[in-house]
Amino acid sequence: MLRSTTLAVPECADVPRHLAIIMDGNGRWATKRFLPRTAGHVRGVQAVRRAVEACGRRGVEYLTLFAFSSENWRRPQEEVSLLMRLFIQTLEKEVSKLNDQGVRLRIVGDLSPFEPRLQELIQAAEQRTAHNTTLNLTIAANYGGRWDILQAFRRLLQARPDLANDPQAVDESLLTQYLSMSYAPEPDLFIRTGGEQRISNFLVWQLAYTELYFSDDFWPDFGPKEIDAAFDWYRTRERRFGRTSAQVAQQP
Ligand code: IPE
Ligand code: IPE
Ligand code: MG
Repeated sequence: MLRSTTLAVPECADVPRHLAIIMDGNGRWATKRFLPRTAGHVRGVQAVRRAVEACGRRGVEYLTLFAFSSENWRRPQEEVSLLMRLFIQTLEKEVSKLNDQGVRLRIVGDLSPFEPRLQELIQAAEQRTAHNTTLNLTIAANYGGRWDILQAFRRLLQARPDLANDPQAVDESLLTQYLSMSYAPEPDLFIRTGGEQRISNFLVWQLAYTELYFSDDFWPDFGPKEIDAAFDWYRTRERRFGRTSAQVAQQP
């Protein structure tokens, strides 16, 4: 069973076991080149492919990518449609390759507003790759950290109506079992490209003790070299989880 970082100090290695990325800056990458924003999203997919490969090689166990937030529906309709089409095309084209690489793919988020074709592709991709163990790739789509906590709370209440009379019995370990990424440890490293320094409703529960790394590179320009720079920075962090430096130094 996975233990929460607020309940137990996790083991830390040189390479993050779980890397979570906000892939930001596709639109600005394109605008800078006088291209439509959509061209940036197309290039962004290529950067996803590179990141998956680089993380696999470096021994990352869990890679989680924020592809579409629950707030991204606010964008112009043409951009939203293009993103949905791109998602469909990418699943159609890439799942075989991911499967060959031993990647297990999961999509988290509220999938109910997606068109049936997309929902079918998601289900098929998850089933097809379910036996893989090299890298756990999670794509967050129509995902919001607050949505996740709420849906966890609702599902817990549904499964355990008795808890309404015994609220003290609800603890972190119980609630986290209902979060959409209950299969993964909390992220060790978070990367956001594109220069903004905010969480934008990503994994708000799970980022409690994650090391936060911000890069000014736009996502389409982010490759293995930039991932290595982030990992180099990560290695210099002292992860204290509430303890003192002296305690960290003494740990076995
Ligand atoms: C991230 O790039 C991709 C999605 C949110 C789908 P953006 O589209 O947010 O790019 P910028 O931030 O406008 O440059
Ligand atoms: C966050 O990027 C969501 C994704 C990368 C999918 P946004 O570009 O939508 O975030 P804000 O709106 O600038 O905070
Ligand atoms: Mg953005």
